[in-house]
Amino acid sequence: MAISSCDDLLLPAASPPATVSSGNVSSSGNLLLRLTVSFGDISSCDVSFSDFFSCGDLFLRRSPAPAISSIELLNCEFLLRQTHNVALLVSDELKLEKLDDLNSMATSSFYKPLFLVKCSIEKRPSYVSHKNSHHNHFNIPIASAFKKMTMIGLPEFPKIVATSAVRLVDAFVDSFFEFIDQPLLPSQNNFAPVEELGETMVVTNNIDGHIPNGFPEGVYIRNGPNPLFGGLKSTNSIFGKTSHVWVEGEGMLHALYFNYNNNNNNNNWTVLYNNRHVETETYKLEKQRNKPSFLPAIQGDSLAILFAYLLNLLRFGKVNKYISNTNVFEHSGKFYSVAESHIPQEIDIFTLKTLRNWDVNGAWNRPFCSHPKKAPGTGELVTLGISPILPFCELGIISADGKKLDHKVDLKLNRCTLCHELGVTQRYNVIMDFPLTIDLLRLVKGEQLIRYDKDEYARIGVMPRYGDASSIKWFEVEPNCTFHIINSFEEGHEVVVRGCRSLDSLIPGPHPSSSSNELDCLSRCYEWRLNMETGEVKERSLIGPKVVYMDFPMVNENFMGIKNRYAYTQVVDPLASSTQDVPKYGGLAKLYFEESSSEKLFMGDKQHDEDPIRVEYHMFEKNTFCSGAAFVPKDGGVEEDDGWIISFVHNEDDAISQVHIIDGKKLSGEAVAKITLPCRIPYGFHGAFMPISFQASH
Ligand SMILES: [Fe+2]
Repeated sequence: MAISSCDDLLLPAASPPATVSSGNVSSSGNLLLRLTVSFGDISSCDVSFSDFFSCGDLFLRRSPAPAISSIELLNCEFLLRQTHNVALLVSDELKLEKLDDLNSMATSSFYKPLFLVKCSIEKRPSYVSHKNSHHNHFNIPIASAFKKMTMIGLPEFPKIVATSAVRLVDAFVDSFFEFIDQPLLPSQNNFAPVEELGETMVVTNNIDGHIPNGFPEGVYIRNGPNPLFGGLKSTNSIFGKTSHVWVEGEGMLHALYFNYNNNNNNNNWTVLYNNRHVETETYKLEKQRNKPSFLPAIQGDSLAILFAYLLNLLRFGKVNKYISNTNVFEHSGKFYSVAESHIPQEIDIFTLKTLRNWDVNGAWNRPFCSHPKKAPGTGELVTLGISPILPFCELGIISADGKKLDHKVDLKLNRCTLCHELGVTQRYNVIMDFPLTIDLLRLVKGEQLIRYDKDEYARIGVMPRYGDASSIKWFEVEPNCTFHIINSFEEGHEVVVRGCRSLDSLIPGPHPSSSSNELDCLSRCYEWRLNMETGEVKERSLIGPKVVYMDFPMVNENFMGIKNRYAYTQVVDPLASSTQDVPKYGGLAKLYFEESSSEKLFMGDKQHDEDPIRVEYHMFEKNTFCSGAAFVPKDGGVEEDDGWIISFVHNEDDAISQVHIIDGKKLSGEAVAKITLPCRIPYGFHGAFMPISFQASH
């Protein structure tokens, strides 16, 4: 591409408005760029980059003194154009090379990828004109632009140059950004992080009750946020404030090992506990620096978020931390930590050491949803992966042996729906396209990056297992926010989907929209019946008029994708939850789908045709809450509810954390075993029980 007209350099008057900047050559011959950025009524700021400028894999090299290569300036223009709608204009002081030389460089194959706009040096104005405001060059989402930048092939520069560049931007961050602890209320004490234990501890002697007969050998493991450096941080800067949302924080695994010994016919158990962070690439990086380094980039003032993206990228080559803190799953004898913001991390189940990214032998290049599902019958693993840039959502099917990706398809969603979970039936995949979305353009407009919009459409898609976007049958449903599917299965012509449904979203913050009730963020058990023949949808609340909020559903995994009679959930304590931001779960519930409750169901002011289902409760003592509950199928069990619910339980009055084992057949009964742990276990997200052989660990 030849360099020609100066008009092409001019940026449109988009929001936020454009800028003025200048540059010069220092006495030592270094390139010194000084740019002044003004965004509306936000005060201006100065950013200086001497010597060079780096952006992920892109390094803008200073020229040999005293000449300046205009290439560098053009690179900067591109960077800023794509990210901040800001033009970098160069003052007349710069000694620029001849236009012919620039053209020559621009048309060479080496530099060509960098020239995405036509520019002129000679006619460069000293300020940004808005006369071409109809040209909106800023139509690429910020992350997309960043990705494209980092994919540009450039020569490698000496490590010392890169290191110095990072130091420069670090110095800028240190000067202009202040990390502040996000406050925790006294009622939130058990959301605070804990230290790594460093070694496995025997807790066999701390068992009140007994490990029941038929309890399988294995590990009960739970994931959850455990932020580095004492807690989540927010930042204050000249650009505004940013903060983490409550679901962020480095993942920590808490594992309880149940090792059955059969020594001298004296049957007994050894129970051990350990914890360890999930060591993603960014965890290691920040740990090595030994101080908060990544700027929070999800919530806050949009300008500050944009700068957080940019500065994270400049320093680390990544726009945000890689967090893996939500769930743990097993596939083909391997174990993984997962969250929908990052690719799964393979874990050594015995040491909890993070081994590697799991990209299915290079075939999968995006995050998983937090709840990938095993297809009934085949054992294939079905997953979704979302992205804030196109394609917004892809579905993948991984072979039962975990070695290859058998199917990958773009679902062609029109928005980046925050798909936390998907469902499977014997023949279908079930996709929830609900109006909780991630939208980068919204961020640029000064609005929320993640938002639930109750006025937008909601639909459930049913896709043949190896289908594609064109074979999805969509069913419009009432707008809602559902993170978790309890189970889904086929019954006659219907696909039945049961989930924990709310009318507002706990993410990014459990602050309901102005038009909704503060409890609308909490979910209740719900059912959709989707008729594949007629397209009809029947939906209903499953629980009676007594308002009970539930989430974190679990079923016997042997019944995943097929019709089941029972499910279990954690029960919200609305009183405890109303005093702080995040729900606390004061009990457990067992749902009997094939038994009716004696209570009648009302939806609004009209009575519903179908009776609510029966629910049995197990409530913990006062100020005691659970997290990460999981169903443990009984060895040799026959019936669906042959097994136990196992859960981390924390008493806030005495700050003691335990693991309780409760009979799945008599949920309302006392726990059969309470295992006291040697340290506090913060509330977290999902737990799972994985049968493992301790022979392997020896
Ligand atoms: Fe989840």
